[in-house]
Amino acid sequence: MYLLIPAAGSGRRMDSEWLRQGTAQRNKLLLNLLGKPLLAWTLLAAEASSHISWIGIIGQPIDWDDFTTIVTQLSFTKPIHLIEGGSTRQESVYNGLQALPPDAKHVLIHDGARCLATPELFDRCAQAVLTCAGLIAAIPVKDTIKVVDQEKLIKSTPDRSQLWAAQTPQGFSVPLLKKCHQEGRRQGWEVTDDAALFEQCHLPVLIVEGEETNLKVTTPVDLAIAEFILTQRLN
Ligand code: C5P
Repeated sequence: MYLLIPAAGSGRRMDSEWLRQGTAQRNKLLLNLLGKPLLAWTLLAAEASSHISWIGIIGQPIDWDDFTTIVTQLSFTKPIHLIEGGSTRQESVYNGLQALPPDAKHVLIHDGARCLATPELFDRCAQAVLTCAGLIAAIPVKDTIKVVDQEKLIKSTPDRSQLWAAQTPQGFSVPLLKKCHQEGRRQGWEVTDDAALFEQCHLPVLIVEGEETNLKVTTPVDLAIAEFILTQRLN
């Protein structure tokens, strides 16, 4: 199974002194998490998955030396490719799809920032994607969600029993996902995950049970929670 890891973002919402470099911003995936860069934990889970056989890390060239050091230090056995990212996640995944070998039929896409996803979750998604056109890992929403307008007035309260929080991995048929990305570019759709492109193209996307601990590290609180969860796992 092919795996693309979008890792070309920065870390503006992390509000970290270490990440700030003048007006530039370092990649939050290089932040230290229990003695390793955050991205290393994501890669270790992919390496431990029995179904993943090819890994493409989508990053900005400025980070490539650091990414190469991570891969070398962890002695990965699976082939790892560096792919140049774009200015949005959507563009980064588009670039990743172009870099897949021509024989790639299915692909998993997993955000580098979700460093707590387990190898079992990768395996579950890799098996399920062989039987459907598209899927995402997701968990039921715990909070009551409000839709609000620009004045912060509530417009509606969707029925919580129908709401799931989207995670990654997300898995797709490669030719279909390529078509959806092309259509998205043509129509100017701006999306924050790949399933949204599938939905806009009226293609079915299945939910696979995700993991409550599979959080996307975005803010300092997320980093503290990730450290706590990893410490529990390692003890
Ligand atoms: O910004 P956010 O945390 O939502 O990004 C989700 C994932 O997409 C992260 O792993 C980030 O590195 C990646 N990304 C990317 N290219 C961008 C922006 C974000 O690969 N231009």
